[in-house]
Amino acid sequence: MAIIVLGIESSAHTFGVGIARGDGRILANVYSSYIPRYGGILPREAARHHYNVAHKIVIKALKEAGLNIEDIDGIAVALGPGMGPCLRVGAFIARILAIKYSKPLIPVNHAVAHVEIARLTTNAKDPLFVYVSGGNTQIIAYSHGRYRVFGETLDIPLGNFFDTLARELGLPQPGTPYIEMLASKGKNIIELPYVVKGQDMSYSGLLTAILRKFKEGIPIEDLCLSAMEYAYAMLAEVVERALAHTQKRELVLAGGVARSKRLQRIMKLVAEEHDAIFKVVPDEYAGDNGAMIAWTGVLCLKSGITISPEDSIVRQRWRIDEVDVPWMQ
Ligand code: FE2
Repeated sequence: MAIIVLGIESSAHTFGVGIARGDGRILANVYSSYIPRYGGILPREAARHHYNVAHKIVIKALKEAGLNIEDIDGIAVALGPGMGPCLRVGAFIARILAIKYSKPLIPVNHAVAHVEIARLTTNAKDPLFVYVSGGNTQIIAYSHGRYRVFGETLDIPLGNFFDTLARELGLPQPGTPYIEMLASKGKNIIELPYVVKGQDMSYSGLLTAILRKFKEGIPIEDLCLSAMEYAYAMLAEVVERALAHTQKRELVLAGGVARSKRLQRIMKLVAEEHDAIFKVVPDEYAGDNGAMIAWTGVLCLKSGITISPEDSIVRQRWRIDEVDVPWMQ
């Protein structure tokens, strides 16, 4: 019988619980997201939300899968990277479940989980990943036992860039869809700072420049169009070089910003130019979710990766290239 793992995600605004089976079937994917009243995520407020919904989400996931907790073979949890107060809620719930029901506890890196759920749901084997979300922007590929970073943001992540821009322009959150909608009505691309340093990009200067132009009265549609084209062009340049360097034959878009249709079109063009097949994670698994933690938990458990509850501390800056991924060999 295939093993079954319950996974808990709580690194930012979403508390999610997923259940995955060893053969790759996702049996449940349930979540509740904290919505800030104004401004960005307040970690402590988000953590309070997670505490309040945790038990309901765990029960709902088991119900959706038609399972009892006794049927579960392991409890996986995202221990980082992410916001400390938020991560600690997931870790706390996971430890309790593991101890009370005598299940192995499985430490999962949130970034590894994003790329693994993308690999599972797109049937990709060994792609170059473009992982873009509110908390991360990285170009990732497997090499010698680990996922390696072939480019990343030097300051704010792409999703954060769009969300902050939307907020400052007075648009609803999450901002990327509204920016994309307004961008489609834009006519002129204005000149903005384009910052790529080696294999890394910087978005904070771009953000400041756009907000300055906004105060100067440049139409919001043109600003959104320019913001999107500049931000994606910078990313595309880095992805192109990474594809040429790694010689990967698949390009997979993962993370919450993978839902952007404009980004999908640009990445498809980049892939085609380098004879790579383009794939994108399905919307349901693009943002933070419990299923990705559960599925990565399956891969870890099959490789014998577990952790004792007392060692399961959260790591806010746990990088993807610090994690061994023996299942990729
Ligand atoms: Fe994420």
